[in-house]
Amino acid sequence: MPHACAAKNVLTALEVDRAVAIADALRGGREVTDAELDLLLPPPWRRASAQFWTPVAVARKAAAWLARAGSRRVLDVGSGVGKLCVVGALTTELSFHGIEQRPPLVDVARGLAAMFALGDRVSFQSGKLQQASFFAHDALYFFNPFGENVVQREDWLDVSVELSQERLEKDVWFIERTLREAPMRTRVVTYHGYGGPLPDSYHPTVCAPAGTGVLRLWTKIHAETRGRCWLELDDVLPLSVAESALRQPGNEVEGVKTSPPR
Ligand SMILES: C[S@@+](CC[C@H](N)C(=O)[O-])C[C@H]1O[C@@H](n2cnc3c(N)ncnc32)[C@H](O)[C@@H]1O
Repeated sequence: MPHACAAKNVLTALEVDRAVAIADALRGGREVTDAELDLLLPPPWRRASAQFWTPVAVARKAAAWLARAGSRRVLDVGSGVGKLCVVGALTTELSFHGIEQRPPLVDVARGLAAMFALGDRVSFQSGKLQQASFFAHDALYFFNPFGENVVQREDWLDVSVELSQERLEKDVWFIERTLREAPMRTRVVTYHGYGGPLPDSYHPTVCAPAGTGVLRLWTKIHAETRGRCWLELDDVLPLSVAESALRQPGNEVEGVKTSPPR
């Protein structure tokens, strides 16, 4: 049964009915539209949904891939209002943890998880991604978390956090290094890419068009990189390139950050 919403303490009867219907439909394998789920979000965050939150069908597919691959604990890097974690937990047995830099979004995500009574299978942490325990998880999820750094100001979610080219470079470099150091068999799911190249120690296990982009499941199958990396461009299949060619000044690829921060 859905519980009271943590963000505002009390749910209306209508919200309870909606949450019950959505949970039943998701658990029963029936379609739930984004409009239906988004009605449980506060209006300002509802309006941001199409651009910033993983669509229900994509979240469902990502979670199903990870469950089939044998993952157990998923870290959503930049978890927003928690749609990926909540839909994933309603449709699989996996556990989800989200780290999110905007505290109001963490409150909304906790409220959403509480509505569905997901208990300790879903949790959210307020903070920058560098504060997350990456290696306590065997799977990582990225929906283009750093894209906001390079869009026009009017396309930002809000002005409460620093958004800049410098920050983009630092965050992408941190993730690239983390991916290199992650344990073997770590799974990564990207939707619209993560913003940088994936080391070639990862294999693109499944790639498919989904939502407004491409969803890819990656598996770490080599302990070390072998001098190449993957670029996630518009094609469904990623592009393999030599790292040495990529890192040369002037060889930047549009949409993918390829050099370490200055
Ligand atoms: C495109 S949204 C994706 C939200 C969620 N993962 C989903 O799929 O529905 C990206 C989110 O990442 C967060 N984010 C971006 N950079 C971050 C960082 N360095 N640390 C923590 N959160 C970050 C943003 O605030 C935003 O909520």
